[in-house]
Amino acid sequence: MIPQIIGLPHATSSLFREARLEDLDAVGDLLKALGYNVPRDRLEPVYSRLMKDPTYRCILAVSHPEGRAIGMITVRRLPCLRLAGEQVSIEELVVRPEWRGRGVGRALTAQAVAYAVSCRAVRVEVLTSEDRESTQRGFYEKAGFRRARSRVYRVDLTTQQASGLAFQHTAFHTTVEDLS
Ligand SMILES: CC(C)(COP(=O)(O)OP(=O)(O)OC[C@H]1O[C@@H](n2cnc3c(N)ncnc32)[C@H](O)[C@@H]1OP(=O)(O)O)[C@@H](O)C(=O)NCCC(=O)NCCS
Repeated sequence: MIPQIIGLPHATSSLFREARLEDLDAVGDLLKALGYNVPRDRLEPVYSRLMKDPTYRCILAVSHPEGRAIGMITVRRLPCLRLAGEQVSIEELVVRPEWRGRGVGRALTAQAVAYAVSCRAVRVEVLTSEDRESTQRGFYEKAGFRRARSRVYRVDLTTQQASGLAFQHTAFHTTVEDLS
């Protein structure tokens, strides 16, 4: 189980550990490096909630001996009927720009896969943008992932985007009888 010391190909050694509540600011910085500038007051309640969630893990790569968080992978495991088992989803993966290209991202991904194997999940999945440099450079293929023929559809409920949609004014029915 994590933490575990790994040997990086072209870098000083790095240590993996579980993120803790007090890592909030480091996690906020890493999210910024991923392209999400989430204000601290909005991040804090979600982060504290996730820290207590047994189906969620946030693994940090920490430089040695400085102890600075240089990368992060977050994963969630979820039982799926259609798979008759659990799927582990990679939610976020990021390495600080100055640490990229030294094997940290691959090692973090390997940690996520090792975690999935340890909890006997049947699949590891990641959704990522076509536009990212990592996608274009085949980061996940190099890490052993195969591209799926799936599409992602979304309704963004935080914007006005949903305003024209028919279901917006539909009440949420709690029982089948309510539907009639
Ligand atoms: C993608 C990312 C996590 C990779 O981390 P990293 O530590 O730079 O990757 P590694 O050094 O372990 O590289 C592993 C392989 O991926 C390749 N690679 C793919 N994308 C890369 C990128 N953007 N930068 C550097 N290497 C990249 C490397 O060349 C390497 O292959 P090789 O061993 O054949 O040379 C990092 O570049 C990053 O944080 N990018 C911005 C955020 C992002 O795109 N996240 C992933 C999508 S959610």
